[in-house]
Amino acid sequence: MTMSDTWRANGAGGAAAMIEMAGVRKVFLTDEVETHALSDIDLRIDEGDFLSIAGPSGCGKSTLLSLLGLLDSPTGGEYFLDGNPVACLSAAQRATIRNRHIGFIFQAFNLIGDLTVYENVELPLTYRGLSAPERSERVMGALERVDMSHRLKHYPSQLSGGQQQRVAVARAVAGDPLILLADEPTGNLDSSNGEAVMNLLAELHRDGATICMVTHDPRYADYAGRTIHLFDGRIVSEETNGAARELREHGYELAGR
Ligand SMILES: Nc1ncnc2c1ncn2[C@@H]1O[C@H](COP(=O)(O)OP(=O)(O)OP(=O)(O)O)[C@@H](O)[C@H]1O
Ligand SMILES: [Mg+2]
Repeated sequence: MTMSDTWRANGAGGAAAMIEMAGVRKVFLTDEVETHALSDIDLRIDEGDFLSIAGPSGCGKSTLLSLLGLLDSPTGGEYFLDGNPVACLSAAQRATIRNRHIGFIFQAFNLIGDLTVYENVELPLTYRGLSAPERSERVMGALERVDMSHRLKHYPSQLSGGQQQRVAVARAVAGDPLILLADEPTGNLDSSNGEAVMNLLAELHRDGATICMVTHDPRYADYAGRTIHLFDGRIVSEETNGAARELREHGYELAGR
């Protein structure tokens, strides 16, 4: 049994939340200055949720996303991912889980400039040791989803911003992650490209993806079923965007977004 099988088997008990944080804190120490980036974070994300995280610059949104994605560790509190305590994992186990179960979309796309579109999407799958035919099937499937299969041999610099972000979305979903984490995925896009990326996330969500997205933009926060507002590292309010969610669950897009 591989580590991953063990992980899935442990988490397959049923009612456990996909993500559960209790009293999570993050303190950064720099030059003897303590920054309390996150305090008392209680958060539950279930399979199939679409959560957005909002709040002013510096309130801890990206820090929360990097804890969720195992890129960084909490200073205190508890974090369970798929029912398993993350604190007990070794660095190697964390890396494996990140690679197999978590998809990241970054604000600045983070595509590798000297790899083609195809190679960028393929790279994380290579780390996972998938066979070439399996990689090819996943890469082509993901690029078709984002309507970019006509640009396989282009380099990122030869694409528009919206196209680069669509490739970044393809890279994040090609590995079929348990959860998709997006840090201002529309931050560098004009409104029509921003909408295209948001509609793509909404479509992935309708198909069952669990998504956690940081956004400054209230129009885009509405795409999510639920929004948490952070202020000074604390969750100060939470709202359910019921109307938007219900409409989308029935296959409708809201007009004018
Ligand atoms: N590696 C680090 N070392 C020290 N302080 C940090 C570090 N990363 C973040 N911080 C601090 O933690 C706080 C939260 O930062 P974070 O990047 O999470 O904010 P944010 O809500 O994502 O802001 P923005 O909307 O501008 O992206 C800030 O005060 C920041 O200066
Ligand atoms: Mg940020």
